[in-house]
Amino acid sequence: MLKDIFTKRIKIKDIPLAATDNIDLNNVPQHVAIIMDGNGRWAKEQGKIRTFGHSAGAQTLRSIVKIAEVVGVKVLSVYAFSTENWKRPITEVNFIMNLLSEYLTGELDELNEYNVKMRFMGDKDALPKAIQKKMDYAIKITENNTGIILNVAINYGGQDEIIRAVKNIATLVQQGKMEPKDINKDVIENNLYSRQLPPPDLLIRTGGDLRVSNFMLWQIAYAEIWTCQTYWPAFTQENFLEALESYQKRDRRYGGLNKK
Ligand code: IPE
Ligand code: IPE
Ligand code: MG
Repeated sequence: MLKDIFTKRIKIKDIPLAATDNIDLNNVPQHVAIIMDGNGRWAKEQGKIRTFGHSAGAQTLRSIVKIAEVVGVKVLSVYAFSTENWKRPITEVNFIMNLLSEYLTGELDELNEYNVKMRFMGDKDALPKAIQKKMDYAIKITENNTGIILNVAINYGGQDEIIRAVKNIATLVQQGKMEPKDINKDVIENNLYSRQLPPPDLLIRTGGDLRVSNFMLWQIAYAEIWTCQTYWPAFTQENFLEALESYQKRDRRYGGLNKK
């Protein structure tokens, strides 16, 4: 494992080697979830229009996927577009949709080369058909990859996800395929977009706001939370490692008592 990581570090030239020294590679969160926030404010600070921030944010994602893969994170879930983001001006929504579409085409070869396996969360049906096709293609092309899972939330809402799960389960009960008494944590989790993924160990929110904005409501029950003021386009691999360092100092009790 360590040898493996070393080889990858050599291969991926833009990773700051020394920066990983403070990380305990045996205690890396399996699943990191990120609320990539602050694109618009970052652009405004540069005297640019909001959409400029979204383009810059796509580049940040590229570098964070790499560092997450190098340190051994197994799943990276990123919030790209929420069920509430449709409230934004149509020009901004269209820009984001185009950007997602370009990302799925332009980054696919490199993601594949890094052995990344793609997944998505969210209501796909409401997205433009062209994006749906690209999502399916990205899943297909990377399905046998064994590296980090990149789980992109597009038109995703935690409440919407839970409503869908409840509807599915209610239908199974109605059809006589299960009894209400059989509904448990596993049944619910098997009906969420994140089925078969471990829950996030660490939830990062950039951009300074201290809220979860409808992201992975069920799954973050015991996630450690780390926030920073830095806007997403300015977020660096070093910042990601800082979050990991903080995570490694936490005492996760899950409602029990600490081990010491
Ligand atoms: C996050 O950045 C990206 C999306 C929600 C699509 P924002 O666009 O929310 O940027 P701020 O928070 O307004 O600065
Ligand atoms: C959360 O950010 C959604 C994404 C990062 C995609 P928002 O900018 O939409 O959240 P609020 O409006 O500040 O809560
Ligand atoms: Mg925002």
